[in-house]
Formats: sequence, structure tokens, C-alpha cells
Amino acid sequence: MCGIIGYAGSREPVGVVSEALSRLEYRGYDSSGVAFFDKKGSISVVRASGKLSRLVEALQGATGLPGAAIGHIRWATHGAPTEENAHPHRSGPIVLVHNGIIENERALRRELIGEGCVFSSETDTEVLAHRIHRAYREEGDLQAAVRKGLSGVEGSYALAVMCEESPGQLVAVRKGAPLILGEAEGEFFAASDIPAFLKWTRRVMPLPPEVLAILSPEGLSLCRLEDGQPVPAVFEEVPWDPVQAEKGHYRHFMEKEIFEGPRAIIDTLEGRLAEENSRVILPELLRLGPNPTEIVFVACGTSYHAGLLGRLMIESFSPISVRVEIASEFRYRPLRARKGAWVIGISQSGETADTLGALELARKEGYLTVGITNVGGSSITRETDATLLTRAGPEIGVASTKAFIAQVTLVWLLALYFGRRESPEVRESLAALVRSPARLEGFLGSVDSSAIERMARQVLDSRFVIFIGRGMDYPLAIEGALKLKEITYRPADGYPGGELKHGPIALVERGVLVVAPLADSSLRPKEMSNIREIEARGGTVLTIGPASPDPSDPSPSFPLPACQGWDGVFLASAVLQLLAYRAASLTGNDVDQPRNLAKSVTVE
Ligand code: G6P
Repeated sequence: MCGIIGYAGSREPVGVVSEALSRLEYRGYDSSGVAFFDKKGSISVVRASGKLSRLVEALQGATGLPGAAIGHIRWATHGAPTEENAHPHRSGPIVLVHNGIIENERALRRELIGEGCVFSSETDTEVLAHRIHRAYREEGDLQAAVRKGLSGVEGSYALAVMCEESPGQLVAVRKGAPLILGEAEGEFFAASDIPAFLKWTRRVMPLPPEVLAILSPEGLSLCRLEDGQPVPAVFEEVPWDPVQAEKGHYRHFMEKEIFEGPRAIIDTLEGRLAEENSRVILPELLRLGPNPTEIVFVACGTSYHAGLLGRLMIESFSPISVRVEIASEFRYRPLRARKGAWVIGISQSGETADTLGALELARKEGYLTVGITNVGGSSITRETDATLLTRAGPEIGVASTKAFIAQVTLVWLLALYFGRRESPEVRESLAALVRSPARLEGFLGSVDSSAIERMARQVLDSRFVIFIGRGMDYPLAIEGALKLKEITYRPADGYPGGELKHGPIALVERGVLVVAPLADSSLRPKEMSNIREIEARGGTVLTIGPASPDPSDPSPSFPLPACQGWDGVFLASAVLQLLAYRAASLTGNDVDQPRNLAKSVTVE
């Protein structure tokens, strides 16, 4: 949650920082602010509550001196999203921005108040500003002050700190929360995510935890937070194209990202198919030794739904039993997995606090851990024994779309990897996976947008939308419901078809809409009987699937081409994503930045 940016270079910094914040807006958007050196050589802080556009208005005509500048976009945890609580926070010459949560904030605040400190906000961040300021008075040096000020601070932080007495210098440091450094000719960046500075450079380095970066237009140096020992800087070029992080001709990032699903599959398959696409290779897993006795997927939100699909896929082709756990629940229970189990965290961002917490628990209990993530260099990649990257490219829309498609691709690959290569079912499934990006692309290219529009209006006319499904269709149903509520704010929920009679059917009456993805042909007859039960009670059902092999079944409301292997999962997901997208855009909601949500949930 929250996005931070630090810049040290020779450009006019207000423009750079504001533009970088616009790329981080998906992380939070309830207030924002910047700090820069003004013409008089003092630090100016400009902050605004509400969306970034309010800050941009407040900054009209403001220009800063080349050198250091910082910016922040907030998703409130401590204190309401007011201007006073917006970052940057200041204490004397020290001005800083923060992403994370200071867990011993109360004790530190009491201590500072006892020493006569006056607070002007309710944030935990202000504690850091005062502590670093006090340390600066003793040390007279920014780097030493940050090190001293942070000692005894508990919790997570990514910080960018500047000092009125050291123009041109910026100190960045992280623990728990992400921070990525960027390097270009005569300029350096420190940001919560790569798209913030992708326009200016693709040379990046994830800042290691508890390492301090000192940035200035003249250069960059790194040292350990604990003892100041130097640390080498190693930058790598990311293959991301800056255009990928732009909307192009689409109205919203979400729409663009739905249409990038096929590319996400292709890129995720890249280098993972050998011998003329007849074998899956995942070299990342070789160092883990023999196959696991059991797999425990841990994840949150949409990534959890990808895990549910992964369970069905892996259990279809191998004797490995698979559990799927919501990370925030799992991490506070005894683990009790079999000896030799792998705990696999699925996380688009690689920064979700609960997923990282669950993996940490597994590691402590002696299990091998694997991270499936879309962000190379994210915390999950450092905190697991092996990483499998999905390659969906930057996903900006808060509601996950192409990253989910890439996650499903990866769990499908895992199922084939653990399956018997000689088995005809495994071979057929692999062939279907290889064909799936072209099939999805063709489908998206010819999708009947007026049919989506009609369904979207039906969704908006309903009091409540129930999504149902069995087998593979169950994760699709709950993902469809999640997508819809995330961006339309309409009541929606997903249930396994078989559970209807145990409660949810009581909700069914005229005016209630039921959406049923039908991508799992194996359970079609059972799904059809659930549909008939709903229609008998006055509910309207929208079905999304290929024509049924049983001619007595009605045609689906939204027909899909005949599915090959599990590719119906991609096709039905695309329809559910488009349905939620269209319904939300009809409401006029901010589709890419739904209220109260954030893309990366880096706090518990
Ligand atoms: C947030 C996002 C969801 C995402 C979930 C898990 O809730 O809004 O789109 O599915 O976090 O995020 P992760 O990065 O771990 O996949």
C-alpha cells in the first residue's frame, strides 16, 4: 500500500516526481504530496487530500531546483486521509516519505512527546521524521542520522529522506516494504515499483532489506543499515517496455490488461517448453530435489483463486495432494503438512504481507518454499527457496486480470511438470496449453461486445448477483464475483453449485441474477441441474460456456468456442473480466482505482 518515489538528478524534479506518482497511483490514492528544493534553496512541501489530480492542481506552476525530491501517494493506515496526514512529513530540516507500518509507533511517540516533541499528524511516519531529526542534530550527517534514527524501530518501512542542509542528496532504505532503485545517466530513482521510473530507465536494482542507498546526481552508494559497511550496487536491465505501462488507446488499464491476456500466457510459457513443445521444463525447481509429497498453496485474493485452479490441475495429473490456503488464516495455525511438502506462495506483487508471513512460517517449520510472482526482485523472490516468474508485465489496474491469466498458465505448467510425460492426457493437455494464447487472442478479437454490454446492464439491474460453478468453474465463479464487487461495488458472491441448496438458494427470487461459468465439461450435467433449480425459483441465469453435448440443454447465454483442455478457463475468465469491467464503466466508477482497495497489500 502507498507508493513512494525519490529522485536525485539534474532534471526539474517536480515534473519527474509528479509523473512517477501517476504511475504509482494504483498503490493508493487517498492523498499525496511532494517535497523539493525551491528557488530559495529551502524545501517546499506540497500536499493534498484526495486523488492525485488534486495535488497536480496544487502544484500548478511550481518548479524545483535540480537535485533531490521525493513524493508519496497514500493508502491510509494510521490517521484519516487528510492533508495533515499526507506525506511528506517534516521535522526541522528532515523531510521524508514512508510506505509501511511502524509497529512500536505508540511507544516511540510517547517517548518523543516526553522529550518535548510536538506532532502535527496522526501518522506513524511522523515518529520517524522526529527520530531522524534528533539523530541528525547529534550526528550532523544525513546518512548517519537515518541509521541512528531507525535503530529500535519495529515494523516495515520503505523510506526516502531528504535534508534541507544537504541539497542534492537523498537517502533511501527499506525493511519489509519494497523499494527499487533505478539508474540512468546522471540521475537515480528509488521507488516502490518499477513503472514509476520506467519512462527514464530500465536499469533497476531491488534494494536489499536493511541496506541504505545514498543517491545524488553524482552517484550512488550503498551501505548496511546496521554497521555502515559498504554493499555493492548491481543493476540489471528489465525487459519491460515503458509502453506496457501506458494505457494506449484503451480507456482504462483494466481493459488493456484484459486484452493482454494472450501475451501474458505466451511470455509465461517462454523457455519452459522443450523438445518441440512436448515437455515442460522448470529449471527453477531442480535445486529443490525430488518432487514434493504434498503442495500447500498460500495466497490472497485473486491469487488464491489461481491456487484453487492449480489444485484441480495438479491433482488431475499426479498423485501429489494439494491444499490451498488463504494466507492470512493459514499463518496463524499449526502447519501440519507432510514431510517433504512444498509451500508455494502465489502473489502477483510478491509483496503481500500475509503471503510473505505464511511463507516465513513454512520456512521456519523446515518446509521448502516456492514463490510464484509477477515481479522479479520482489520480497517473495528473496524469501523463498525457488521462484517461478509469471510474465504478465506490469499490471496497473487494481483488479487483477492478465496477472491471473499468467498465474493460471503457471499452475497448468506445474500440473504438466508433475504429471507423467507419457500419459496421453498430459500430452493432449500440453498441446492445448500451447494453443491457448492463440485461441484466447482469437476469442478476444471477436468477442461480442454488445452481448457483454447486455449482460453488464442485467448485472446492474439486479439486486444481488450470485456466481455459481463446480469443479474448475467454482474458482472462476468466486473470481467473477470478486471482480464484480471490487469495481462495481454491487453485492455479489460466489458459491460451489452443490452448496446452493445449503443456504444461498434462499436468496433466489425474481430480480436476482445468477452467473454460471460452464468451462468444466466434466460436471456440466450437475451444473445444469443447479441452473434449473434457480430458474424454477424465479432467478435469471446467465451461462457462459461452450454448447452442451446434450442437445436438450439450452444454448449458453454467452457461447464460448468448444474448450480444449483447460483453455475454457482462460476464455470464461476473459468474459467474466469483461463483464465486471463493462458494468463498472457503466456505473462511472473509477475502474482502475476502486475505492478502499490497493494493488499491493503490504500490511496485515
Ligand atoms: C489485493 C489486490 C488483488 C490481489 C490481492 C493479492 O487485494 O487488489 O488484486 O489479488 O491483493 O495480491 P498479490 O499481489 O499477492 O497477488
